[in-house]
Amino acid sequence: MDTYDFSSSRALFERAGRVIPGGIYGHYGLAMITPETPLYFSKAEGSHFVDVDGNRFIDYMCAYGPSILGYNHPVVDAAAREQVNRGNTVTLSSPVMVELAEKLVELITIADWAFFAKNGGDVTNLATLVARAATGRKKILKINGGYHGVAPWMQEPESGGTVDEDFANIISIDWNSTSQLEQAISDHKGLIAGFISSPYHHPVFQDNVLPEEGYWAAVEKLCRREGIVLIVDDVRAGFRIDLRGSNEFFGFKPDLICLGKALANGYPISALVGTDALREAVQGVFCTGTMYFGSAPMAAALANITELMKNDAAALINQTGRKLADGLTKVAADNGFDLKVSGPYSMPYLRITNDDDMTLHFDWIARCVERGAYFLPYHNHFISAAHTDADIEETLGIANDAFQSMKQ
Ligand SMILES: Cc1ncc(COP(=O)(O)O)c(C=O)c1O
Repeated sequence: MDTYDFSSSRALFERAGRVIPGGIYGHYGLAMITPETPLYFSKAEGSHFVDVDGNRFIDYMCAYGPSILGYNHPVVDAAAREQVNRGNTVTLSSPVMVELAEKLVELITIADWAFFAKNGGDVTNLATLVARAATGRKKILKINGGYHGVAPWMQEPESGGTVDEDFANIISIDWNSTSQLEQAISDHKGLIAGFISSPYHHPVFQDNVLPEEGYWAAVEKLCRREGIVLIVDDVRAGFRIDLRGSNEFFGFKPDLICLGKALANGYPISALVGTDALREAVQGVFCTGTMYFGSAPMAAALANITELMKNDAAALINQTGRKLADGLTKVAADNGFDLKVSGPYSMPYLRITNDDDMTLHFDWIARCVERGAYFLPYHNHFISAAHTDADIEETLGIANDAFQSMKQ
């Protein structure tokens, strides 16, 4: 199998470095951890993108989550275009904003209201403000290694530009540990406003971990007993586990759910949804942004959700993900490697376990990428409804060829 050349990506990166600090920043920049990798796309369609060198990839990152129906989905794009023709960001808010809120309240089981913003981090931050406004308390509990965005309190202590005070009211505990939760509650009795966590643990550079049996039930009970607002950060997992909220799959009811990424199949919008008990609190928080009222992303979100509901997309995506996981595990075993797949099938984290420092794993991923299957070695992947059985078959062929080349 021929391997790809990335010289046009590299040349563009050189140019970028002169005018954009670091060339590519944030999570997109991290992809450069793999030395030979595409950096810029020329077009995308369905489950694929083509890079500026003309290489075609089956994309298992889906723009880090947004592409849930596949790139350039005709129904979603038509809805967005139609709204643009009427007016996108206008001096007044749009009827489609009301329709979208109604749709989310209909779909998301716990939701009595919805509030819209742009990025996931806008609404994870808002959720903590709501928890504080509702309780009159200061402290926020979070999970070690959990990611909620880039506001100072969400970052690791000592990250560039943060100060100690940013973390003064943040308490971090380990995932799946009810004993640490109980300890934190007793150490800070009556002071904890909210507990924020993703529905399962999806750190980078580590196997992903589902909740242990009874974990969420215990968390919910403790939060209720202590008057702590329970916030699910479903920004990453939302719509890929259960359309009604990932908490429904894990059998518990939070007070607030943060949504983003897959909400509008790539258009910029996020949402905080919550229960009636927090309606007044969210109304009392001043949170807005110039672009928050853009109505084309709202029309896209409405069309996206309608399509997801019509096709029971979460179930479909999990089935496709299962085929990929089973197939890759078998291909690895046939070649003498052990591939561990963790997390839900719709968002699989991959790791070859045959060495301790992930050298083999990084090598295998790089060989898959230069053969046309876009994986990342340190992050969970994303399956979309556009991934076909033919994509999976082709990917298994690429994975097999990558393993064979490693053995040589
Ligand atoms: C779980 C989770 N929460 C919040 C965020 C922040 O979302 P955004 O990057 O859209 O601000 C992310 C982004 O990766 C995420 O994965």
